[in-house]
Amino acid sequence: MSIIIKSASEIEKMRVACKLASEVLEMIAPHVVVGVTTNELNQLCHDYIVDVQNAIPAPLNYRGFPKSICTSVNHQICHGIPNDKPLKNGDIVNIDITVIKDGYHGDTSKMFCLGNVSPFAQRLVTVTREALFLGIAQVKPGNRFGAIGHAIQKYAESNRYSVVQEFCGHGIGKDFHEEPHVMHFGKPNDGEFMEPGMIFTIEPMINQGKRHMKMMADKWQAVTKDHSLSAQWEHTVLVTETGHEILTLRTEEL
Ligand code: MF3
Ligand code: CO
Ligand code: CO
Repeated sequence: MSIIIKSASEIEKMRVACKLASEVLEMIAPHVVVGVTTNELNQLCHDYIVDVQNAIPAPLNYRGFPKSICTSVNHQICHGIPNDKPLKNGDIVNIDITVIKDGYHGDTSKMFCLGNVSPFAQRLVTVTREALFLGIAQVKPGNRFGAIGHAIQKYAESNRYSVVQEFCGHGIGKDFHEEPHVMHFGKPNDGEFMEPGMIFTIEPMINQGKRHMKMMADKWQAVTKDHSLSAQWEHTVLVTETGHEILTLRTEEL
């Protein structure tokens, strides 16, 4: 087993799948308001992916996952299962979208802040996004994967936050999760060297309190053990000859 180098035609299909995933986040944004339930957001995304994009929501039935998107609210770290509880003023929520188009996966997530979010929560959300982009800045041929994790951990901890260690980014393509595991912590000389044609996600989960997580009985939903807030942002990234291309970049990020 090793890291797959994608061909030019595979890269083109990944560009398409990743663009669709980013467009689902753009479509759903105006619907993420106080009072909406995560089940309603799940239904809107599902219908858009299936009926408008003619694509497949990858999470649905993936290893038994019951919904088409992940919605992780407040102290939920990741893999939150949409439910009938309305979102409330001050909530922070991650929406994680993965679509399959023409056999290839695009995977991306962002945080939404509902109504008046506390300055503490806002700062966690902002620092986590900055950590993602510091990680992405390390993506270029000749760097090791450890450089990504090192940059993210250094920045998160310098802001007195902690990095979740149980979940990582991943290679992505024909499969949802391919090699390698992309750690969000570590040392610059850890791991394999990046090469042009590699495609993987970076998706740091950063906690306001301690890094430790607790798994719910459903074996999917991970929450912070100390109940502190957790934030996550995710992009799918291609290694190019000169650096990288963010395949899931949204218009608002240009
Ligand atoms: N999209 C998640 C990731 O970034 C994986 C979700 S698995 C699911 O890797 F089954 F919960 F959808
Ligand atoms: Co991912
Ligand atoms: Co994801």
